[in-house]
Amino acid sequence: MGIEMKILVTGGAGYIGSHTCVELINAGHEVVIVDNLCNSNIESVKRIREITGKDIEFNEADISDREKMEKIFCNNNFDAVIHFAGLKAVGESCEKPLEYFINNISGTLVMLDIMKKYNVKNIVFSSSATVYGTPKTVPIKEDFPLSVTNPYGRTKLMLEEILQDIYKADNQWNVTLLRYFNPIGAHKSGKIGEDPNGIPNNLLPYITKVAIGELPILNVFANDYPTEDGTCIRDYIHVVDLADGHVKAIESIKDNSGVRIYNLGTGNGYSVLEVIKNFEKASGKQIPFQIADRRAGDVAVCYADSSLAKKELGWEAKYGIEEMCRDSWNWQVNNPKGYGV
Ligand code: NAD
Ligand code: WQD
Repeated sequence: MGIEMKILVTGGAGYIGSHTCVELINAGHEVVIVDNLCNSNIESVKRIREITGKDIEFNEADISDREKMEKIFCNNNFDAVIHFAGLKAVGESCEKPLEYFINNISGTLVMLDIMKKYNVKNIVFSSSATVYGTPKTVPIKEDFPLSVTNPYGRTKLMLEEILQDIYKADNQWNVTLLRYFNPIGAHKSGKIGEDPNGIPNNLLPYITKVAIGELPILNVFANDYPTEDGTCIRDYIHVVDLADGHVKAIESIKDNSGVRIYNLGTGNGYSVLEVIKNFEKASGKQIPFQIADRRAGDVAVCYADSSLAKKELGWEAKYGIEEMCRDSWNWQVNNPKGYGV
């Protein structure tokens, strides 16, 4: 579209949101962040300002706080919302399902209601490959059957369905659902990156913490899967590529009335052992690991067919696994304590 837009980024202080803010600003758009900082640090917003040289508006608010959200919408004339805000830990969602349903679903409903009131009907939503459940074949296409195995995944699937219903009732809405595969890596400046609380659940943050000596050893969750080396295969995607996908999605949203659904992945699958090897090469560090039991809920092989995003958005991933590992490591080395809390 090429026209500058004013965009509300919910969850903009988080991992993917912060990288997306940088790419949106680089593409000439104006960004306003709302985040309650439940899984992020205000320092990330300062870093976005540092990288871009722009003074971005930040609002510390929960998306379910109607009063604060109305004020933000009242003060700004938004063209669109990119909606990252949500809780995302699969294991935790099984222990605290209600918390996930309230935060992710109720929070989003309040926000959508306010969007409607202020006539902001363009939304890009963070969905996930988790909505494909256990895929029967790979690569995964957008029209594959959907199913979920945990409350986190259910929040994504339910919100996808809710957004489609909203469009059905009012065709003025433009909804883009982006299903991310496995985002890793960090901005090349080393100023923003993934900063999980406590012991990481995900592979790359765990590896970087082993590499830096904060954790002693990586548990590889089983090597008896039906893959070449027996470890699970995933479609890792550089977070900056993912961020660029949001820029492309937001720039096409007004031209594309309706509901659009895109996989954002590279189309390449890497096993856990291949990721370890690539990380060792990129970092020059050895990663001690041991083979452990399978983790409940893991699927053997998952990678995307992202040709639809290429065809319709003109987007495709540029970075390979080497750059993903290099940039994850660069972020960790430059910020041994993450954002410092
Ligand atoms: P993140 O936790 O780093 O970012 C989410 C942000 O939302 C955090 O800053 C958090 O403080 C904020 N937040 C949460 N609930 C909020 C609320 N009620 N009100 C206001 N702010 C709130 O996570 P991320 O990795 O950047 O993920 C962003 C989105 O992408 C999430 O919706 C997540 O489910 C989705 N997603 C992530 C992955 C992944 O592997 N990281 C994969 C697929 C989809
Ligand atoms: C990757 C591989 C593990 C940690 C999760 C969510 C998914 C999406 C992305 C949000 C798997 C193995 C991991 C470890 C290991 N998030 N592993 N040792 O599970 O593919 O996807 O994040 O939507 O919904 O489920 O990512 O990074 O946890 O695991 O061996 O200590 O690494 O078994 O094969 P996953 P992950």
